[in-house]
Formats: sequence, C-alpha cells, structure tokens
Amino acid sequence: MDENFKALEFRDGALVLIDQRILPTRLEYFTCRTSEDVAFAISDMVVRGAPAIGGCAGYGVYLAACEANGDRRAFEEKCSRIRSSRPTAVNLMWAVDRMTRKAGECGMDTAVLLEEAHRIVDEDVAMNKKMAEIGASVIRRNDVILTHCNTGALATCGWGTALGIIKKAHYDGKNIRVYADETRPRFQGARLTAWELVRAGIPSTLIPDSAAATLIRDGMIDLVILGADRITANGDVANKLGTFALSVICKQYGVPFYSAAPTSTIDFEMKDGKDIPIEQRDKDEVVRPGGVLVAPEEIGVYNPAFDVTPHQNITGIITEKGIIRPPFDLNIERIRQGETL
Ligand code: MRU
Repeated sequence: MDENFKALEFRDGALVLIDQRILPTRLEYFTCRTSEDVAFAISDMVVRGAPAIGGCAGYGVYLAACEANGDRRAFEEKCSRIRSSRPTAVNLMWAVDRMTRKAGECGMDTAVLLEEAHRIVDEDVAMNKKMAEIGASVIRRNDVILTHCNTGALATCGWGTALGIIKKAHYDGKNIRVYADETRPRFQGARLTAWELVRAGIPSTLIPDSAAATLIRDGMIDLVILGADRITANGDVANKLGTFALSVICKQYGVPFYSAAPTSTIDFEMKDGKDIPIEQRDKDEVVRPGGVLVAPEEIGVYNPAFDVTPHQNITGIITEKGIIRPPFDLNIERIRQGETL
C-alpha cells in the first residue's frame, strides 16, 4: 500500500523532484543540483506542500554548505535565499533553522548535514504514518470526506497528512468516499489530489470549490479533513485559500472540521493567526490558469495563496503526537513541553 512514486529523492548528489507544475499531464522530474535550484523549485512550485518544502529545504542547506566550501557568510546568504523562497509554510523555516543549527554544531561538515537532511525526510514519513493511525479514530465506516488542496505523498516526504489519513481509512476497508475540491487557482486538488486518489483506487468525486457549500448544507459530507501550512500557538491554522470558507460552512451546519499536520508545522513562537505572513502570488495564476487567458489582462487581481482559519472553527488538529482539541492553546503548550496527547 506504499506509493510507487516519490515527490522528492536525493540521489547522485542532486535533489530529484516530481515536477508538480506538469502533473497530471505528464510525470516528469526536475533535478536540483544547486541550492539556487532548490530555492527556485520551491518558489515556482515545482514542489509544494508544507512538509515537502521542508524536506527539500534540508537538502538545499546541504547543497549550500557544499557550495560555500567553509565560507560562513556565503553559506548564510544561500540559506536565507532558501528561507525566503516561500513565506507561509513554517516547515520551510523550521527545516532551514534545524539544518543551520546542525551546521553550527558540526562545523559545516557536509557529510553530517546530508545525514541530517535524510533524517528530516525519514522523520516526516514516520510522522505521517503515525498521524494516519491516530487520525483513523475520526473516520467511521462509510464516511464521506471532503478535502481541499493536496496533502498526499506529493505534498510531503512520503505518504501524506490529511490524504494519508484518508488513504489509510480506505486501505483499512472502511468503504469511504471522497470529494476533492479542485482548489483554484493552481488546481492542486484537480491536478494532484485527483491523481493520487485515482492511483490509490479510492472512490472519489472532483468538485468545483464553490460546490462544497451545497454538499455540506445538504448533509452529504460527514467530515472535512485538510492540511496546514502554519499552526499558531492558539490553534489558528493557515492553509490553502478556501480553507477558511469551508470552516465557516462546516461550523454553520455542524460538520466536523479537522486539520492534519506534523508538529513541525506548529509555530510555537507565533501567538495567533493574524501574524502569519500570507503569500500573495502572481496575477497570471488567476487571469491565465494553465497559460490560457480567461479574463481581460487589464483587470486587477487579488491572489492570496493561503487564508487563516480561526481555532474556534476547528474540531481538532491531528498530529503525530495526538489530536489537539480545545482548549487549543493549553494543548499546544503541552506538545511544546514534549507531552503526547
Ligand atoms: O501552495 P501549496 O500547494 O504549497 O499549498 C499547500 C497546502 O496548502 C497544503 O494544504 C499544506 O501545505 C499541507 S500539505 C501536507
């Protein structure tokens, strides 16, 4: 039941990525031989999804150390380039900080740094598998689940977060069905989640984002599970644009609303969601999706990549350390202290 594809893999001195800009049309790979290639791949969304970005950043810092060849200043400049390649997913900063701390401890020994980068990837896969076990408790037999964006093996170092939980429920024979939002404007749901769902043989239906409200109102959805790009100390969740709207509809109609993420997505230092930097992306993503002009070029565009869901709208946050439920601030603090819930 493991995937036979890897979103990211380090081999022969380079980071090899599935080019997620091209799926599902073709399965092609993009090779990063330099730290700059890694920064480009993250900002251009060759690779995307908070945990996958974190995994790539680990190798980016390793490549930066190789390139800097002992020059600390050059190393730091390259690391800050990687760090700033996307602003919202905290896994990126988390991985760069972890790697640069390691670099300080080991005197920039590249063999040690490569080991550390591998460890970030292995830990992420293990956290996802654990989350899938823990998340099983929120899915009952015959449940119909709605998800948003892509949180599967493509978005992580392997297996997936929210989609990993959904896949496990399917493989456990729970007879689930899935509705996947297409997730405008980059279509991660249509292009990537649908690709993963079809490969896994999970009964699923793709919907325009705006169809979700009707399905939820009409009692067609048992629960929503989706991912997170940054979770603040009070339990607010930044995730793909459209998440907040879904949470409001779920609250209105009493449908359970879960976010799933490894604890590397928790920003313990940030008190609440209003301080999360929200990435604004290019106008062309909206005006010219897939390269096809769908609106007058002269029109102004507002294109935030993420929105923030207040913790009041969230039923629970599924992590590898247990399900965080209200009071979120107290339970997140317990995780920070090293407890499992
Ligand atoms: O812009 P993206 O595709 O990187 O956004 C991804 C999401 O919002 C995901 O839900 C989140 O990163 C979690 S991925 C396991």
